[in-house]
Amino acid sequence: MISLPTVFVEGYSTGVDTGQNKKTARLHMTRELAAIPAVLFSNKHAIDPATHTHTRKRTPPPHRTARRAARDPPPSPPYKISANPRVRRTGSPPAAAPPPPPAMANGGGGAGNGEARKAGAGASVLVTGGAGYIGTHTVLRLLEKGYAVAVVDNFHNSVPEALDRVRLIAGPALSARLVFIPGDLKSKDDMEKVFAAKRYDAVIHFAGLKAVGESVAHPQMYYENNVAGTMNLYAAMTKYGCNKIVFSSSATVYGQPEKTPCVEDSKLSALNPYGTTKLVLENYFRQVQAADPELRVILLRYFNPIGAHRSGDIGEDPRGIPNNLLPYIQQVAVGRRPELNVYGDDYPTRDGTAIRDYIHVVDLADGHIAALEKLFATPDIGCVAYNLGTGCGTTVLEVVKAFEEASGKKIPIKICPRRPGDCTEVYASTEKAKKELGWSARFGIEDMCRDQWNWARKNPYGYSGDADEKN
Ligand SMILES: NC(=O)c1ccc[n+]([C@@H]2O[C@H](COP(=O)([O-])OP(=O)(O)OC[C@H]3O[C@@H](n4cnc5c(N)ncnc54)[C@H](O)[C@@H]3O)[C@@H](O)[C@H]2O)c1
Repeated sequence: MISLPTVFVEGYSTGVDTGQNKKTARLHMTRELAAIPAVLFSNKHAIDPATHTHTRKRTPPPHRTARRAARDPPPSPPYKISANPRVRRTGSPPAAAPPPPPAMANGGGGAGNGEARKAGAGASVLVTGGAGYIGTHTVLRLLEKGYAVAVVDNFHNSVPEALDRVRLIAGPALSARLVFIPGDLKSKDDMEKVFAAKRYDAVIHFAGLKAVGESVAHPQMYYENNVAGTMNLYAAMTKYGCNKIVFSSSATVYGQPEKTPCVEDSKLSALNPYGTTKLVLENYFRQVQAADPELRVILLRYFNPIGAHRSGDIGEDPRGIPNNLLPYIQQVAVGRRPELNVYGDDYPTRDGTAIRDYIHVVDLADGHIAALEKLFATPDIGCVAYNLGTGCGTTVLEVVKAFEEASGKKIPIKICPRRPGDCTEVYASTEKAKKELGWSARFGIEDMCRDQWNWARKNPYGYSGDADEKN
């Protein structure tokens, strides 16, 4: 996450790791554990989430799996808009063996739509932090593309409901290929259990803390969670022979960019502890990859993810005061906050407010699919960084206007002085991702604001729907 300059009120988020947050996470974990059947996995080993012990399961011989794949019809259309998603819960995934991935069911096509089969389709992917904002959207795309997905999350900044919504949108056939494993990357034991229970072909690693202000107040917490957590993850990966990882980096590693657009080989720096953890982890992956040539790593530097799935059933649901522009605007639009503070209207830009590169979260999710396919197709890829942005800069006032048009709501703003450390303009060079991943963003700022508003309108208080809890 790059720090957004011209927005936000009352300073940074206060959503620190309070006892209350821990208590909530524990409650969520208990609920989720109770909802998960004892046997989660369809392959040789299964984990009992209540005891974290392993049970043996019989795997059908490959020829039988192939015959079943040829016989089973492609999955039913996954997408259904819910009038009131909060009252419909999909429950936990069935314990029965999941159906074959669509890529196999249709004889090698993509997710039932006639696409050529992509490298890695049908593979098993572990998604850390998959219950979070970007995670949920990516998990959904993975399922739609025929991957089997396991999510590990400690619900520090998310809720089980988010994964229920993913299952709801995906439909029962695809949801059968999604399992949830409660776990904390800070725990070596948890990581050991996750990898001992099942073989994963690749990992997408989202789990991390991301609030800049919080990282300034609690750097130790950020190093422990982001850096030590990633080291635990990688140690378990290597021990169990998983050699592909997509890592959530951020445009924050460009620090105060010397020139824009930001190209991947620009000088890197960090402006705060959060940014430093991303920089440290980029270097960490470069170094461990150099020592282990079998390892394949893609570092994805996100610019400013906004928007939501078009159903409006999943989206960003920050705890406490939002750190990012769009969640803040959305809360003003639904009456949760009186106005938007805009920090600085005297930048040398077209309207005086700072410029950022906003990217639709669904485009971002597709960028992960492209990265995964690249990892599967390129054994000697090493460790490579790609920007995920649109290449277009938008000012804060332009975002406000686009949101007003999408929502029909007036967003009151208050102009405040610039904040120290904020830069004038940050946007991505997109050439490398386009050329090497075959990926580029499809959605514009109007689409992003439309989908953000749809999510806000349907879920004004986020997943919980509870005004008291959220304000
Ligand atoms: N959203 C952005 O603006 C942005 C921009 C650039 C980079 N990123 C990075 O992308 C990743 C995902 O971001 P997001 O917006 O989806 O954040 P998020 O907070 O919504 O999701 C992160 C998820 O990881 C989980 N998590 C955190 N620490 C964990 C741990 N120790 N063990 C298990 N689970 C843990 C949280 O509970 C949450 O579900 C983060 O690493 C973030 O730094 C985000």
